[in-house]
Amino acid sequence: MTTALPAILFVCLGNICRSPLAEAALRTEAARHNLNMEIDSAGTGGWHAGDPPDPRAQATARRHSVDISRYQARQVRPDDFHRFDHIFALDPQNLADLMRVAPSNATARTSLLMDLVPGREGTAVIDPYYGDEADFETTWADVTRAARAIMERLAG
Ligand code: 4NP
Repeated sequence: MTTALPAILFVCLGNICRSPLAEAALRTEAARHNLNMEIDSAGTGGWHAGDPPDPRAQATARRHSVDISRYQARQVRPDDFHRFDHIFALDPQNLADLMRVAPSNATARTSLLMDLVPGREGTAVIDPYYGDEADFETTWADVTRAARAIMERLAG
């Protein structure tokens, strides 16, 4: 028997730091569980559209054995709210911005990513853009916790 797996989109501001790492973390968990799911990421802003992830995000993913060098940033679009079952915002501002652009007939469920992690409800995955390598590692740890929580929900 096959069960339809949800299509999942992660959204941050620029789609070059946090949401590509969230995409990579969930791809890693899905591969580990042999699940072939649709996973993508986007930004509420379009300034970096077409760009690869920030070099520090690429380096962080590489340290965790994931190659994200071919990811390309894009801005969230109205059809994402139909194409994906779940849209996870990386911080509360991203969530507010998503709610503002969501079409009225959206079918996707849009929520805050860290609401999935017990004890972290309502909190942000802090933007590491102005930070250093340790901040990017914190991002990786946060998105990995969230990705594991998503997998547990799918398994349950
Ligand atoms: P992200 O980080 O939202 O995690 O991709 C940022 C990337 C770029 C900018 C801000 C945050 N920026 O101002 O260009």
